[in-house]
Amino acid sequence: MEVIIQPDPQAASAVAARIISHTLRDKPNAVLGLATGSTPILLYNELVRMHRAGYLDFSQVTTFNLDEYVGLQPAHPASYYSFMFEHLFNHINVKRENINIPNGLADDIPGHCRAYEERIKACGGIDLQILGVGTEGHIGFNEPTSSLGSRTRSKTLTPRTRFDNAPYFGSESKVPRHVITMGIGTIMEARTVVLIAYGSSKANAIAQTVEGPVSSMMPASILQMHPVAKVITDEAAASQLRNTSYYRWVYEQKPEWQQF
Ligand code: F6R
Repeated sequence: MEVIIQPDPQAASAVAARIISHTLRDKPNAVLGLATGSTPILLYNELVRMHRAGYLDFSQVTTFNLDEYVGLQPAHPASYYSFMFEHLFNHINVKRENINIPNGLADDIPGHCRAYEERIKACGGIDLQILGVGTEGHIGFNEPTSSLGSRTRSKTLTPRTRFDNAPYFGSESKVPRHVITMGIGTIMEARTVVLIAYGSSKANAIAQTVEGPVSSMMPASILQMHPVAKVITDEAAASQLRNTSYYRWVYEQKPEWQQF
């Protein structure tokens, strides 16, 4: 696991954007796994900026989002469908038919989840998966005690996640109880995984993810088993890590050719 600590969310998002741009330079038809929530907004702003400046072309890219709420209309302002179009898809040249977001209104949710997995496989698998992390360590909406081998399926949110996401809905009681999420097994098959986390509310999750035991109680800790996992944080999210001087030293020593 590579830990990259940056002074602030802006700088950390710029590093994550550079990783995406290197991926697209090497493979213009890459398959990107995308996250929603407050964390990736700066990253998406940066991707839009790079696209507008002519540095990034998404015309051959395929995307798969991690998750969606069950029962929300795509047009609902708090749906992840709305989020993705507002923050990214409306501003880049990705083809509509190459965008995949779980359908929280599917009649047959297990069938829809199986089809989502099949589509990821048919597209050749995910090259680069962007992740945020919940305060209790979820990735996607794989809450603590989720199977570390799980596949795309519906999950029930924890009270803490519904509390954390209440601002998007106006009140906690309006936050849906169920979601569709890629599984941990699905996420672990991505060729590269980049987890971004900002702010002191993520400090415990980051410390446990990077330096704690691998445990389904802290789902993000499974990334210790991933061959190419990068964790990019600001100073606040890194504040409970023990080995920070080593992580900083490794990053400074990286030869240019190995940067990302
Ligand atoms: C969203 C997702 C979640 C979020 C996590 C952090 O697609 O998969 O795991 O990344 O809940 O959310 P924020 O960024 O709002 O703190």
